[in-house]
Amino acid sequence: MGHVAGAEAGGDAAWQEDAFPWKQHVKLGTLALVLWILGALGFYVTLDLFGSTHITGLHAELAWPIIGLAILGLITGYIMNRYKKKRKILPLIHGTINVLLIILVAVECYTGVQVWKDFS
Ligand code: HEM
Ligand code: HEM
Repeated sequence: MGHVAGAEAGGDAAWQEDAFPWKQHVKLGTLALVLWILGALGFYVTLDLFGSTHITGLHAELAWPIIGLAILGLITGYIMNRYKKKRKILPLIHGTINVLLIILVAVECYTGVQVWKDFS
């Protein structure tokens, strides 16, 4: 667990040995987490259409842990990318948070489709 810190700075050798696409991981990971946080805008949609929120049951409840974990994923990822060094614990925590997040988002997609079907 953990990758050679500052692979770009240290040259491509370490980079290729490691085979962890650091920059792409940061870019796509950030995109994913920001988009998932923006899913919270769904609260405005329900508020606007129905005058209240938390009307979609599990879909609404899951939004909160998703927002919280996504923020933690962004913070831990940012720290590891900004202050590069050999790490063990933080990548593990970061990885665990984000894998859990992916599972919740999968359930969120499923319940989202259910809500969508119920409304249409
Ligand atoms: C869906 C989003 C994400 C997932 C599932 C995810 C997952 C993971 C996992 C499992 C690792 C551990 C890999 C290993 O050590 O073998 C890791 C490492 C890392 N992640 Fe993410 N991540 C995500 C988003 C982000 C974001 C947004 C950033 C930066 C802003 C980021 C930065 C990093 C960095 C720098 C490492 C390497 C740390 C090290 O080895 O020292 N990740 N990520
Ligand atoms: C990370 C992903 C997502 C998050 C965080 C999210 C979050 C939310 C939130 C917070 C609401 C308002 C719930 C309420 O007040 O009861 C909502 C509504 C809704 N979401 Fe999502 N959502 C996500 C993905 C999806 C997906 C993949 C679909 C599937 C098509 C979907 C479909 C819906 C629908 C149909 C509503 C009800 C909108 C309405 O009032 O007409 N969502 N979502």
